[in-house]
Amino acid sequence: MRNILAEAAKAIGQFSNRAASFSAHTSRSFALIGITHLAGCDGKQSALEPAGRSAEKIAELFWWMAIGAGVIWVAMMGLALYATFVAPKIKSRSASPLIVVGGAVVPTVVLSFLLAYGLAMMPEMLAPAPEGSLKIAVIGEQWWWRVRYEPSNGDPVVLANEIRLPVDEPVEFQLESADVIHSFWIPSLGGKVDMIPGRQTRLKLEPTRIGVFRGACAEYCGSSHALMTFSVVVSSKKDFEAWLDQQREPAKSPMEPLALSGEKIFVTSGCGACHTVRGTAAKGVVGPDLTHVGGRMSLGAGTLPNDAENFVRWLTQTQTIKPDVHMPNFSMLSQYDLRALAAYLDSLE
Ligand code: CUA
Repeated sequence: MRNILAEAAKAIGQFSNRAASFSAHTSRSFALIGITHLAGCDGKQSALEPAGRSAEKIAELFWWMAIGAGVIWVAMMGLALYATFVAPKIKSRSASPLIVVGGAVVPTVVLSFLLAYGLAMMPEMLAPAPEGSLKIAVIGEQWWWRVRYEPSNGDPVVLANEIRLPVDEPVEFQLESADVIHSFWIPSLGGKVDMIPGRQTRLKLEPTRIGVFRGACAEYCGSSHALMTFSVVVSSKKDFEAWLDQQREPAKSPMEPLALSGEKIFVTSGCGACHTVRGTAAKGVVGPDLTHVGGRMSLGAGTLPNDAENFVRWLTQTQTIKPDVHMPNFSMLSQYDLRALAAYLDSLE
């Protein structure tokens, strides 16, 4: 009997050594993963570096919760160390007051405080934008963003995968989906809101800092979900209005011979069946409006940098760059046609 107990104790000892080494290993791995992920928390897509009113509130709530969780974690670790090393041999003790206070009273108080604090933020964040604010309709499609400006003065302007906003002005986003559920999120400016087929959801944002930020789809929506991003450019009101006036203009025919021949190839290859270039015969509405595509921050909804070389890549390797996207590869075109098309699209600024 004594032998069996000794064997059991030895086995338990070995197991706990292994468990300790495993837990040291995993905590190192988790720390490493944590650090890598935190690297994504700075710059143009960071909820912790707010550049908008709602994002400031959300970051504030996050820090309160992080501090609260930190305090609770330290207290729990302290109690565990106390029970293990300081007072492991106390014979009689009653656990019930500790369980009632630590297990019920403290969590109830902490969670009630956080709930009240979070709920108190809601009315302001959910309030509609003031009358006369800029309105922008954004329609989520697999896997890009159709953006329509509806200014109170002037005609609507349609573009894709890029949103420009004036600083310190509230703006109302009217969000829709053309196919499946997407979610519209600009972490630097505020929270996310789902885009639901057959419904319109709204989001009010107010940027407080000039800069270039990144938005992304925050709801899994199919194979290229991770490649559904967009640029957000916040500028002064004057720069914003100049940009919107420029977007209103139809496309100009290029002067350069290669680009000019690209314009003809664009028409004869049937690109206009899916794409609109205002001022030309191309009036398709299936894919993104390309009127000023050469002036955008990226190609393929944040997938490639915007230049002539990448237009060729996009046209010939569409399905490799963005799997299952509705646009087919155009690799059957000759090298000359591709370069001409790229020069034309690049000229559409
Ligand atoms: Cu759209 Cu995920």
